[in-house]
Amino acid sequence: MAPTLSPMIVAIDGPAASGKSTVARLLGERLGVPLLNTGAMYRAVGLACLDAGLDLEDAAACEARANSLDLDVTSVGVVTVEGQPVAVEREEAGSAASRVAVHPGVRARLVALQQEFGRRYGCVAEGRDTTTVVFPDADVLVFLAASPRIRAERRARQEGAPERAEEYAREIASRDERDASRAVAPLRPAPGALRLSSDEATPEQLVERIAQAVEEACP
Ligand code: DC
Repeated sequence: MAPTLSPMIVAIDGPAASGKSTVARLLGERLGVPLLNTGAMYRAVGLACLDAGLDLEDAAACEARANSLDLDVTSVGVVTVEGQPVAVEREEAGSAASRVAVHPGVRARLVALQQEFGRRYGCVAEGRDTTTVVFPDADVLVFLAASPRIRAERRARQEGAPERAEEYAREIASRDERDASRAVAPLRPAPGALRLSSDEATPEQLVERIAQAVEEACP
C-alpha cells in the first residue's frame, strides 16, 4: 500500500521582533504552503471578548466565548469570524490577545483549530508554542532569535522612532524574562529546533537556510 502523504508543516517560534513574521511569510511563499499566523487567532478571540464586553481576566467567560465563536481559518490562512476576515491589526487587539492567551480553555480551542488546519493544508505556522505544543512533530522546527539590541532597533524603525531604541531594548529584555518564565507556554526553543539568529542574516538568507532543512527533512 502506498504511504499516506501528510502535508508539509514548518513551525517557527521566537521572541517578539525577531523577524519571524517576515521569514514565515517568505518561507510560505517559497514552499507554496499557507502561512498560519497563530497570533492573529488569539487577536481575533481577544477582540471578540472585548466586543462582548467581557472581563478579559475572567477565564470561564473568555473560554465560553472562544468555544462558541464561529472562528475559522481559510485555506490561504485568513482568520475569519462568522465568515468575515478579522481586522487583527486593530490597536487594542494585541493587548487583548495577550490577556486571553493565558486562559487554558482559550488555548485548547485554538490549538485544536491550528492542528486541524495543519493536517488539512500543511502550513508554515508562526507563533509562541507552535514548536512546543501545536506541532512538535513538524517536518522542521525553527527557533528564530535576535539580540535585544537588534530587536529594539527593528521595533524603533517600525514605529518611526529611532531615538527610542534604548528604551525599547530595556522593555524587550524585561518582556523576554517574563515570557521565558511564565507558566503557560513559556518562550523556549523546542528540542531539536533549528536555532537561527536574525542578527547577521537577512530574511532571504534565513529562508534559504530553512528551505535547505526542509529539503533534507522531506527529500
Ligand atoms: O504574535 P502576536 O503579537 O500577533 O501575538 C499576540 C498575542 O497572542 C501575544 O501577546 C502572545 C499571544 N500568542 C500566544 O500566546 N500564543 C501564540 N501561539 C500566538 C500568540
